[in-house]
Amino acid sequence: MHITIEEKALLSGEAGPAAQKAMQILETLGRIYGAEKMIPVNSVQVSGVSYDNLGEAGLAWLSELADGGGKAQVFTTLNPAGMDVENYTALGIDETFAENQRRVLAVFEKLGIITTCSCTPYLFGNLPCFGEHIAWAESSAVCYANSVLGARSNREGGPSALAASLTGRTPAYGYHQDAYRQPTLHVEVKADVLTNPDFGALGKAIGDHVQADPAPRVPYITGIQSASLENLKSFCASIATYGGVALFHIPGITPESGAYHAPTKKLTFTQSELDQAKASLTNASAEEVDFVSLGCPHLSLREIQRIAQLLQGKHVSKEFWVTTSRPVKRMADRMGYTATIESAGVKFATDTCCVIAPIKGRFNALLTDSAKACYYAEAKNRFKTRLRSFDDVIKEALE
Ligand code: F3S
Repeated sequence: MHITIEEKALLSGEAGPAAQKAMQILETLGRIYGAEKMIPVNSVQVSGVSYDNLGEAGLAWLSELADGGGKAQVFTTLNPAGMDVENYTALGIDETFAENQRRVLAVFEKLGIITTCSCTPYLFGNLPCFGEHIAWAESSAVCYANSVLGARSNREGGPSALAASLTGRTPAYGYHQDAYRQPTLHVEVKADVLTNPDFGALGKAIGDHVQADPAPRVPYITGIQSASLENLKSFCASIATYGGVALFHIPGITPESGAYHAPTKKLTFTQSELDQAKASLTNASAEEVDFVSLGCPHLSLREIQRIAQLLQGKHVSKEFWVTTSRPVKRMADRMGYTATIESAGVKFATDTCCVIAPIKGRFNALLTDSAKACYYAEAKNRFKTRLRSFDDVIKEALE
């Protein structure tokens, strides 16, 4: 791998021990994956923010980097944390956890990282351009950046994304290269795909099929007529979760699709297969639901506006979290949506989410519109699940 004079200086510790450690991580990764060189990145998104995941060992590692002079060299934001720093008491998060989570955020701040914590950083200014090389860690955001924005990122882990932030570089392999972005499988959809659960079910169906394939998984998907930003973020979360997919192309919708033709290897999904995939994400009855959450991935302002419209003058009967980023919440505050939603008995869980917050075993069954939330509700938090459309989630929460 070609290492520049500047990179050699980082490796020799000239810029301090944190930059040296970061460069060592990137060089090792580059050699493992056969990168020929490093490339500059302008945007980073770091995962591994919840104290629940990090523990004292993770926090000590971050502190060592901060004490070793580590500073973000490029615009860097964080993935969701374990709690909403402004509303954790209402969400049932205890003071011990809160104190530890604040310690984590303080170290990230010392590292020069912007401490808004979200899986949809593209909704508030961490928005890479077409063709831009970036180093993001959250799987749904990586899939969105590659597929919908046409930016170029591998699925970084927390440490490698942080190393990219501290050096402004990443090794040039995988999805940074043209060859890796070619579609490998034609997915023909012969079904109505309209709502977030429809897109989530499609992501699950494709994901279940490709997840055992060690080759790059880049579906070229035909049969989708239209998709909103919100549908696409939901789809990205699902296909990344169930299939490890970091890039797809949809003719007429995603920006790189025009550069390719449909591969000969083909899969077809019919309405009954998608209905089956959707049904498999519900194993709880309406009566069993005691927890409702919208915002996986984090909500857009348009979605919060819709919630406010549907809840105006009403009151929900169950614990109900709305999860979004702090900047989007601030806009909702200004527009009066927050006040309307909170007066309906719904809680904002800002900069966190129903998967990452430490709530394992606290509820019986989750009602959501997110296929990804269903996956982790069962796998991590041990909740039953009920998948419904965005509007139907709100309707059921009012019953
Ligand atoms: Fe985001 Fe949490 Fe879902 S990180 S994609 S809201 S699991």
